[in-house]
Amino acid sequence: MLSGKRILLIISGGIAAYKALELIRRLRERGSAVTPVLTPSAREFVTPLSVSALAGEKVYTDLFDLTDEAEMGHIQLSRVADLVLVAPATADLMAKMAHGFAGDLASTLLLATDTPVMIAPAMNVRMWEHPATQRNLATLRGDGVTVVGPDAGDMACGEYGPGRLVEVPQIVAAVERALADGPLKGRRVLVTSGPTHEPIDPVRYIANRSSGAQGTAIAEALRDLGAEVVFVTGPAEKARPTGVEVIEVESALEMRAAVLGALPVAAAVFAAAVADWRVAQASSSKIKKQAGRLPVLEFSENPDILAEVSGLGEERPGLVVGFAAETDDVVAHATAKRQRKGCDWIVANDVSPATGIMGGSENAVVLISDAGAEAWPRMGKRAVAERLAARIAEALGA
Ligand code: C5P
Repeated sequence: MLSGKRILLIISGGIAAYKALELIRRLRERGSAVTPVLTPSAREFVTPLSVSALAGEKVYTDLFDLTDEAEMGHIQLSRVADLVLVAPATADLMAKMAHGFAGDLASTLLLATDTPVMIAPAMNVRMWEHPATQRNLATLRGDGVTVVGPDAGDMACGEYGPGRLVEVPQIVAAVERALADGPLKGRRVLVTSGPTHEPIDPVRYIANRSSGAQGTAIAEALRDLGAEVVFVTGPAEKARPTGVEVIEVESALEMRAAVLGALPVAAAVFAAAVADWRVAQASSSKIKKQAGRLPVLEFSENPDILAEVSGLGEERPGLVVGFAAETDDVVAHATAKRQRKGCDWIVANDVSPATGIMGGSENAVVLISDAGAEAWPRMGKRAVAERLAARIAEALGA
């Protein structure tokens, strides 16, 4: 997937620097050439010799190396790459990048480059959460830098929380996505997926049987066409797609906030099975069992996220796609639903038990648009996703 590509890999100094060795191997395995750069502090964690041996290339470390300058100037070095990847990115290097410092080779390359930049931060949890780092992060995002991770978990320093370098396969997937040449390259799209859980009290909830299979397949298919996918998912059993931005939510209210926060997007696909109702007064403490007394739940209506987004003005996505699971009279009901919700397309499917579609691996859908109803033959959910993604690319003129 990366053949013919060149990645300038800047390794900055943190304990996670050892993972950069594995990263070099995996990137090269996929056909990419890797030009490694080590900051002075990274040299305390990994040796130039091992980095250079794995990369099969010279490692650059010094801004004022006359031999390097004679061979390839540092400005040139930053421009021949298809991507500049900083992994791990320390708090210090992020701060330098955000403020445009250029006092050493790594920061100079980052300031001089005109190629896309991706960073995979890794640092102590307090450093990550510090307002200064979060400010720098926002600045870097605003400058167009792609940020992968960090993960939350046990840290080498003994603390727990966000700050771990994301796993190497995830970095490789993000690189592949950044360098993919699909028709949706550079387009941001949103996909909602999975069920929602509506709390009754802190330990109980109301849920539905959505597995998240179709939504996940759609996110993957859009990603494979080069889109930047924001995947807002409820607590679904299906594994999360890689190479997309995953936002985990529980309830419909949380899903709505995540969706509105992810706008603007070029297209939005609402594949989630959002609960229609939530418990009106969810209890903040566990409801106690009392002999002879049964709790009575009252419900309130959840916001209809699809209808709300369809009705937006300036922030409305260029294409809004809803789903309709019906058990009878599929086309008539779905056509009415399209009108009611104000979306552009409805992907309707027959979920009556005899079809075996709900929870199964296949789907038979009808695509409803202003051009009418188009029945697709029964096929795998992945095939439905690919066909839908291709139609979305076409509709966006990609
Ligand atoms: O009204 P119904 O639930 O059948 O509509 C299904 C479509 O509306 C799906 O695309 C679903 O994701 C979306 N929806 C939503 N918010 C809700 C209910 C449904 O976005 N509260």
